[in-house]
Amino acid sequence: MKLRIAEILKEMPVGKEVSVKGWVRTKRGNNAVNFIALNDGSIVHSIQVVADVAKFDENLLKNITTGACIAVSGELTTSLGKGQSVEIQANTIELLGTANPETYPLQKKGHSMEFLRTIAHLRPRTNYFGCVLRLRHALAFAIHNFFNSKGFVYIHTPIITGADCEGAGEMFEVTTLDVGNPPRTEQGNVDYSKDFFGKETHLTVSGQLNGELCAMALGNIYTFGPTFRAENSNTPRHLAEFWMIEPEMAFYELEDNMQLAEEFIKYCIKYALEHNLDDIRFLNDMFDNELLQRLMDTVDTEFVRLTYTQAIDILLQSGKKFEFKVEWGTDLQSEHERYLVENHFHKPVILIDYPKEIKAFYMKQNQDGKTVRAMDVLFPKIGEIIGGSQREENLEKLQQIIKERQMNEAELEFYLDTRRFGTAPHSGFGLGFERLMLFVTGMSNIRDVIPFPRTPQNADY
Ligand code: 4AD
Ligand code: MG
Repeated sequence: MKLRIAEILKEMPVGKEVSVKGWVRTKRGNNAVNFIALNDGSIVHSIQVVADVAKFDENLLKNITTGACIAVSGELTTSLGKGQSVEIQANTIELLGTANPETYPLQKKGHSMEFLRTIAHLRPRTNYFGCVLRLRHALAFAIHNFFNSKGFVYIHTPIITGADCEGAGEMFEVTTLDVGNPPRTEQGNVDYSKDFFGKETHLTVSGQLNGELCAMALGNIYTFGPTFRAENSNTPRHLAEFWMIEPEMAFYELEDNMQLAEEFIKYCIKYALEHNLDDIRFLNDMFDNELLQRLMDTVDTEFVRLTYTQAIDILLQSGKKFEFKVEWGTDLQSEHERYLVENHFHKPVILIDYPKEIKAFYMKQNQDGKTVRAMDVLFPKIGEIIGGSQREENLEKLQQIIKERQMNEAELEFYLDTRRFGTAPHSGFGLGFERLMLFVTGMSNIRDVIPFPRTPQNADY
């Protein structure tokens, strides 16, 4: 029976002959018997392979070192040893690939996250990163499940975009022009009419505007794709390339939007707890002893709802000295967000009604003339995990703000058409997938929850 280790540990076919293939985590033993811990990536646990030294070629056993790849067949027996319930009594062992102990970087000892980032090509071989990647898969799957079960339509929005209308962040340019010697207009500017698309193009910072176009026809949609921001933010919470989930719903007001966001995050966490408890337990035991409890608490708790103005009052009255000054009208910094969540409320907070100046042009304006129907979901240890809003559906108000901000209205005509023809109240939000990953894995640096991170000065692998 060819089995993956996850299947063996689930089905426990004791007494049967099983075959597994995987990578050696460790080998120990004596003159009579070798114990090999073998992992195949299907589960965090390794299986113990027992090799009778007399039965195998000395050279073969010598080459079974940490990192080597082997195929093993043998009887599955209950184990008398500590730490495992079953083991394989090897009958045959085939060495598929050696890993020289002198040069293989992942030896038995624990390695720092910083070191592992420098060997991102081998990092998937570690237990920690196996957990992270399995959880990443599970959460992606949960996200599609959640929206599919609610009848949302998955929309693929473009990655290359010809319009910088959102203003969500600095953009990466996409061009096939010779950057050292681009064609020039008579005025001396770069002549983008000669570029591949005949105009200036960038990598998208968000699929929202395209998402809105589809929501105004299909009702409820979501996107789930890579987004790019060229900000020079070297923080544990920012990537230059990250994945974002953006649902957009016709006929949703801010209340409905908040409710959906809360239900959505809880569903994802619950899914991970139900399907990947082994991975979460491992991360809990190795890195963050409060992880499991924190996840269970979050699923059970009701998120706080609070206006920006109330939040400012709480921060001002806290008496705490913040690095960045707290003042109505300025954006909240991560330290402020985390104070509210971690020190004041001790649970996730949804902040709404931000000053309009610090939020995007498309957010619905409140009656007070000062604030907009924005919502940010703030999480412990993370700060902002979701950003969203009810959208301004009134054409004149939208045109007015576009003018005030001196944005290029001509470029936004396609967007304004949704307000021109059959406009409707609608809302949406964006969840940063890696921020959710940070929360669910308990990792403290966003570089450690994506296989090959892209950050300023780093695009290796
Ligand atoms: O708040 P943001 O910029 O909102 C938007 O892009 C809207 N268009 C979303 C919408 O309403 N459809 O980004 C949304 C989320 C943030 O809350 C954060 O979780 C994540 O995306 N995010 C990042 N994650 C990793 N690295 C970065 N540089 C990020 N910037 C934003
Ligand atoms: Mg935001």
